[in-house]
Amino acid sequence: MKTIKFYEKLLNEIEADIEIVIVVAKNFDQRFCDAEKELLQEAGFSGDQDETCLLAERRKLFVGADSIKSADIRSAAANAVRALEGKGYRIAKMGAYMNHPSCTATLRAQAEGLLLGGYRFEKYKSKHSDKHLHKVRISLEEYNGFALDIPAAQRAVDKAIVSAEATNFVRDIVNTAPDDCIPETMAEIARDLTRQHKLGVEILGPEEMEREGMNALLAVARASRHEPRLIHLSYTPENPVATVSLVGKGLTYDSGGLSLKPADYMVTMKADKSGGSAVLGILKAVAELHLPVEVHGFVGAVENMIGGDAYKPDDVLRAKNGKTIEVRNTDAEGRLVLADVLCYAQEKVRADYLFDMATLTGACVVGVGQYTTGVMGFAPEPAQRVLYAANTLAGEMATKLDFNRFLRKTLKSEIADICNISNTRYGGAITAGMFLGEFIDEHHRERWAHLDIAGPAFVEHPWGENPHGASGAGVRTIVRLLEKLARGDEHK
Ligand code: BES
Ligand code: ZN
Ligand code: ZN
Repeated sequence: MKTIKFYEKLLNEIEADIEIVIVVAKNFDQRFCDAEKELLQEAGFSGDQDETCLLAERRKLFVGADSIKSADIRSAAANAVRALEGKGYRIAKMGAYMNHPSCTATLRAQAEGLLLGGYRFEKYKSKHSDKHLHKVRISLEEYNGFALDIPAAQRAVDKAIVSAEATNFVRDIVNTAPDDCIPETMAEIARDLTRQHKLGVEILGPEEMEREGMNALLAVARASRHEPRLIHLSYTPENPVATVSLVGKGLTYDSGGLSLKPADYMVTMKADKSGGSAVLGILKAVAELHLPVEVHGFVGAVENMIGGDAYKPDDVLRAKNGKTIEVRNTDAEGRLVLADVLCYAQEKVRADYLFDMATLTGACVVGVGQYTTGVMGFAPEPAQRVLYAANTLAGEMATKLDFNRFLRKTLKSEIADICNISNTRYGGAITAGMFLGEFIDEHHRERWAHLDIAGPAFVEHPWGENPHGASGAGVRTIVRLLEKLARGDEHK
């Protein structure tokens, strides 16, 4: 599914092959489905969230939503598009859905859902079907009968297109096989973005990194035949209201290194570049939205492999900020890469907010489940901004994980300043976050939040508006957070 468009027309004035109707809260007497009530009941359609029913003769597809809230409508819209996949309909139309007369949040979610649900990853398929939905046309006819503010509705749809396309852009990068997306590929994607958008880019290779003293990152990268890259993308509008730095873990493959992963755990580790890929997607969206916020994206693109040149457990590494790290497990590589990239980012940019995104720990997935991001930091405010943007605005799930001084002690090393793993089996997401905290300087301490996206970044089945595989986790959350900052809203 490629395009959606908002039309200043009534539904029956819009041409389409099929109409999509969302049945909200099992209300079969609503304006869009009155006539089909009995047919739907006969077909056994109960209107449960995401349940679909195609009445081909009536040229209507029905999909259930538990409520008219954004998250339910986004998911329902995505499932409607998925249900039409392969059926041969090319153009669909639907009404607009709004929660309140003057609030376009649900409409934006509806439009996002359509584009997110229409995502397909077919790069490696030799046969392509052409039976895809191409367009959805949204009418000004509104579910509740609200009169639409046309420019506001148009803006909501335009923003939805930007955030959904950025998410799908990230999904493509993450789904790409690890030998087709190496660190230099990520650098090339960043350079490419600067050709189409008002963005600056700087790429560091191993020599520059050596000069910068990024020995932790370089150690992780050493056994790979692919050189590492540090990507710095920048979006610098005039008179920005704030400056935000984003740091992403871009492990194009994580074999575990010499502390090799078991076979079953290695599969899907192409997705270890999800944080870095999200950073690239967010910069693309920010440039397209022309937000009055200065945004810097830093990606540590590295491959963690085995070989005669591999770094090893027992090695001691000196990170960019001079701290020494005792390596006890080469599979805890993300934090080593991020340690150096965080130091670099803070040295380059004195930011109002610093967010890092990483598929950092399996422990986070165990702790909060595979659909939820773990958010950590020293101060509550940056984390709360992330939680609000995720759970309330973007329809992504995020939850806070608290640091504590007892877990900090489990990272102590007898021979270096810190160990790269803790000495306890418990609280692994938090100890990883606290390890990163050791590389946050005084200025950024209260301005930093860490997002562990190990769960939601890549899930091997469809869920809500997300497909099998890469979800683009974190993109919509941070885009919403930046939009809110741009409006100058205080955080509540
Ligand atoms: N990339 C992994 C974390 C991960 C696990 C992401 C599962 C997505 C799904 C990370 O580099 C890693 O291997 N972490 C180790 C840390 C451990 C050695 C302390 C882990 O979680 O097992
Ligand atoms: Zn690892
Ligand atoms: Zn990793």
